[in-house]
Amino acid sequence: MPKYAKNQSVDFKNAIERVAIVGAGGTIGSHIANALLKTGRHTVTTLSRKDSGNRFPEGVLVASVDYDDEATIVAALKGQQLLIITMAPTAPRDTHSKLVQAAAKAGIPYVMPNGYGGDIDNIKLGEDTMLGPVAKANRDEIERLGMQWITVCCGFWYDYSLAGGDARFGFDFDKRSLTIYDGGNTKTSTSTLSQIGRAVAKVLSLNELPEDENDNSLTLSAFLNKGVYIKSFVVSQNDMFDSVKRVTGTTDTEWTITHEDSKKRYEDGLAQVKVGNMAGFSKMLYARTFYPDVSNDLSAKAQNELLELPDESLDESTKVGIDLVKELQLRVERMAA
Ligand SMILES: NC(=O)c1ccc[n+]([C@@H]2O[C@H](COP(=O)([O-])OP(=O)(O)OC[C@H]3O[C@@H](n4cnc5c(N)ncnc54)[C@H](OP(=O)(O)O)[C@@H]3O)[C@@H](O)[C@H]2O)c1
Repeated sequence: MPKYAKNQSVDFKNAIERVAIVGAGGTIGSHIANALLKTGRHTVTTLSRKDSGNRFPEGVLVASVDYDDEATIVAALKGQQLLIITMAPTAPRDTHSKLVQAAAKAGIPYVMPNGYGGDIDNIKLGEDTMLGPVAKANRDEIERLGMQWITVCCGFWYDYSLAGGDARFGFDFDKRSLTIYDGGNTKTSTSTLSQIGRAVAKVLSLNELPEDENDNSLTLSAFLNKGVYIKSFVVSQNDMFDSVKRVTGTTDTEWTITHEDSKKRYEDGLAQVKVGNMAGFSKMLYARTFYPDVSNDLSAKAQNELLELPDESLDESTKVGIDLVKELQLRVERMAA
């Protein structure tokens, strides 16, 4: 049964104003928090561990939580309308579930679970990279507890993955080396961190519900229990390399190029993961996504126009990525995951 604003209680306000977020000081969470604050429509409260040491965008309210004390999480979530989880992959596995259970107890109706990756309908890719079943279990738990989810399908983060070392898009800027999977021509969908932030802020700034049955405007409710699909660039490693050369003013001869078979690289990464060496995880994930015979182009599903997202410049985003290299190198534990 569709829900309409006209049928809600008198004190119902048709807007998402109070947003809780885990990770407002993190890679994607900081971009989402900043974009939300920029709209001027939301109060943003981050749930953060007491000993976090994180720095948050100005204007973010901080609620300290202890993941071993559910009451602290429930208290932090009381009165919030939507919970966004951007949790480090290094966090203990059950942390996501602890948050979701506390959200249900606090009466939160909507949760944006961890994910921010590929197409949730690409089951084979999800299984091969091990991320799909985990994300599905997270979404199922939200539904089981009577809440609804909205997840972001954005492909690889372009700037982050470019900066994130050889195991990701293959670039090592310090060594000026590049590992190219196969011939380097396989294209994949990517989104910049800022585009993801804008997309989330846009969805959360829509009316929550249509006013009545005649209201055909886009509302947040249209995204419930679905993915929000976005993209910045659908690019191959060769496209990225061309952009890197333009931005850095370098030529082929200044780079050491190695070619690797994506399937072999996937198997190597997977073998490392199986013996507990998480350094293999990114290798496995990126190599698998660049398999030449499968398309990870989200263009057909991308809702950029619907969400009025701007077109971006590849070279500007490459520059942002290169500027991120040093910052990510400081995050040793996080980047090894
Ligand atoms: N598509 C892509 O290319 C791509 C790339 C990377 C990640 N992702 C996805 O995005 C998600 C978020 O990644 P991110 O890089 O934004 O995360 P992040 O910056 O590494 O961490 C986000 C927050 O998690 C909290 N956290 C860290 N360690 C924790 C622990 N042990 N226990 C509990 N909380 C902990 C911290 O918040 P406090 O310190 O405030 O508590 C941190 O700021 C990932 O899990 C993954 O699903 C996608």
